[in-house]
Amino acid sequence: MKKVNVKIKPIGLFDLLAFKNIVPNRVKRFQAASDSDVAEQNINKLAKRLHPQKQEMVIKEIIERGKGVKTFRLKRKDGENPAYFRAGQYISLRLSLDGSVFTRPYSLSSSPKDALNGFYDITIKANEDGFYSKWAVENLKKGDQIECSAPEGTFYYEKLRDCGAVVGICGGSGITPFISMAKAIAEGDEDFNLILLYGSCKECDILFKDELAKLEKKSGGKVKTVHVLSEEENKAYEQGFITSKIIKKYAPADQPYSVFMCGPQAMYDFVDKELNRLKIERRLIRRELFGEIKNVQSAKGYPKDAKKEYKIKVKTLDGIKEIKAKSNESVLVAIERAGIAAPSKCRSGECGYCRSKLLEGDVFITEDNDGRRAADKKFGFIHPCSSYPLSDLFVEIPEA
Ligand code: FES
Repeated sequence: MKKVNVKIKPIGLFDLLAFKNIVPNRVKRFQAASDSDVAEQNINKLAKRLHPQKQEMVIKEIIERGKGVKTFRLKRKDGENPAYFRAGQYISLRLSLDGSVFTRPYSLSSSPKDALNGFYDITIKANEDGFYSKWAVENLKKGDQIECSAPEGTFYYEKLRDCGAVVGICGGSGITPFISMAKAIAEGDEDFNLILLYGSCKECDILFKDELAKLEKKSGGKVKTVHVLSEEENKAYEQGFITSKIIKKYAPADQPYSVFMCGPQAMYDFVDKELNRLKIERRLIRRELFGEIKNVQSAKGYPKDAKKEYKIKVKTLDGIKEIKAKSNESVLVAIERAGIAAPSKCRSGECGYCRSKLLEGDVFITEDNDGRRAADKKFGFIHPCSSYPLSDLFVEIPEA
């Protein structure tokens, strides 16, 4: 058998000294270190600037846009620039009125460059049936303070996903994200061709008419607007609704195009059928969200035997409170109406910010507005903004 020689090296003097000095050396280094606070890393500062938890804004200017429509120019209270964004995104305002605590999402109608120049613009149209918009248009004034979220949403141009030409279809105040996109194109921050088909009732209802004409020129032909009037005959404009015939007339014939839509639910229902006629692939169609469903009882699959009113037990960090809820209003609206602060941003089921645990009861959620992850569906989580009570409920909501 072969003999194996293993040599064991004796511990050297230097190794012994190094070992003995480990602790004293560490103590010396601790004592020599600065006792001032660790400076925040630049990358963390940038992340906070781009994605602040909230932004305290002040109304600096109000621009009349026509009957019942105003643009509010907002600047940060602390004098900093508001967070940068992608043209087409929205901010969520945190509000309270008549004992309700609630949020409202508004698309930014200013451009990303405007944010670097210190301001955001949002444009609000008074809706006669709306809880907040009419009040806002009639009552908000210069100097009022408003808290809002960072820019949110996915309704923006993305070169990897969208075609080089975009047909933008909008109605009424749905023009606002497209104004932001048109400005960004004219300012050189976005690079795509935007053909806007903008539906209004009458000529006097067209918002941003002069701005759109100027942006067409400034963009060097990259932005083109076609106005479509539904309630007035005027040879200068297209007539009726935005049909497949009108889309085909103005969309590029020689290249694929994406379709972006922003407007009321009724417009989506109509235009969806027209797009089907044109056989446009679903992946090329993008829709901005329109908030809570207006007439949930007529949604596909809504049960005929639902009652008009239910009770909801709401569990928060402060305890459990029982509230009343109408079956045609979302769980979120019932909670807000009761003055309970609940987190929300998009109010359309998409962002997941209102995600809550349904401990007991049944809710109705339309397929189009069910933005929950598979695991959330399995383990009983709901998005209260897109859930409608079908029985008495017990819901646990996160802190606002
Ligand atoms: S607020 Fe966005 S999912 Fe409810």
